[in-house]
Amino acid sequence: MVGAKALVTGAAGFIGSFLAERLLREDYYVVGIDNMFRGKKRNIEHIMDNPRFEFHVHDIRRGIPREMMRDVDIVFHYAAINGTQHFYERPLEVLETNVEGTINVLKAAAEAGVEKIVFASSSEVYGDPLYFPTDEKHPILLPEVANPRHSYAASKAIGEYYTLWYSRNHGMKYLILRIFNTYGPRMDTSKYGQVIPEFIRKALVEKEFTIIGPGTQTRSFCYIDDNIEMTMRAVKMVDNEILNVGNPEEVKIIDLARLIHEILGKPFKYKLLPPRPGDPMRRVPSIEKIVSYTGYRPRISLREGLARTIEWYKKHVFGIK
Ligand SMILES: NC(=O)c1ccc[n+]([C@@H]2O[C@H](COP(=O)([O-])OP(=O)(O)OC[C@H]3O[C@@H](n4cnc5c(N)ncnc54)[C@H](O)[C@@H]3O)[C@@H](O)[C@H]2O)c1
Repeated sequence: MVGAKALVTGAAGFIGSFLAERLLREDYYVVGIDNMFRGKKRNIEHIMDNPRFEFHVHDIRRGIPREMMRDVDIVFHYAAINGTQHFYERPLEVLETNVEGTINVLKAAAEAGVEKIVFASSSEVYGDPLYFPTDEKHPILLPEVANPRHSYAASKAIGEYYTLWYSRNHGMKYLILRIFNTYGPRMDTSKYGQVIPEFIRKALVEKEFTIIGPGTQTRSFCYIDDNIEMTMRAVKMVDNEILNVGNPEEVKIIDLARLIHEILGKPFKYKLLPPRPGDPMRRVPSIEKIVSYTGYRPRISLREGLARTIEWYKKHVFGIK
């Protein structure tokens, strides 16, 4: 697919911007779309001058104009409302963006004769998993309609169904990636962000360091470079599959907080807050399926990835030397 044309939705977001950058490095022509809900100009500033990059501020809920999809060979559909706090505060908007937006992207791709669609799904579709490490055979678990948190998991699960059936019915290839917690530079540091940038912010500039939940809950964090490497290999090597993407290195949230303080050389004092309803206690991917296809296992340890991430936030967000 080198020299091909790719459309990346969510291109000004965290993963989307790294993906766009990587595609440009591999000689793709890249069309980026983002409505800047959480996307930032800062994330794509350095590629704006690239003659093989065009960027549109556009809301996927309004459909995808034909000219944006013209001659596109592959679509990376990464636009979504992401960030746990958003799921609790605006569940309907999450469903509209992540379901209706996805249908719009699929319709436009099918109409334009796109060859392949890559859909960014999420480990959230496994709900509170029944076993660990969790592989792709694990059932989709969406227990509570009335729990706003599950708006996101439901939207991603429905997105998977639509991606698979749209692709099959319209002769497109698909790849559904169930992404587990990914981190690195460029993530949102506000309370709407994810745990690592939020912890870095609290440790660097806030008086009190708080942890939501008991701290003994675990997550497995994958550094962005590993995510992109696994994704790009899978995109080139695999069609019509559902694959977990992540790093199985599991860590307790309290140990993650401790490690961030250790890297920053700060004393670790914390306060525990009540858990969010529906927050799973463990999350660990089995990545054996994607490894068997691509031969690639994540290489960047949590300590190394955190050190790189912290350096970036100090310099680019908090202006600390
Ligand atoms: N980061 C993770 O750990 C993780 C884990 C699982 C799944 N994912 C999925 O990967 C994708 C990228 O996630 P991310 O972490 O980069 O999040 P992000 O919020 O940084 O990126 C998503 C982008 O989509 C844009 N967007 C939102 N609504 C839109 C709309 N209506 N029209 C156009 N653009 C819109 C946002 O402005 C944002 O830039 C998402 O689909 C997310 O659900 C991410």
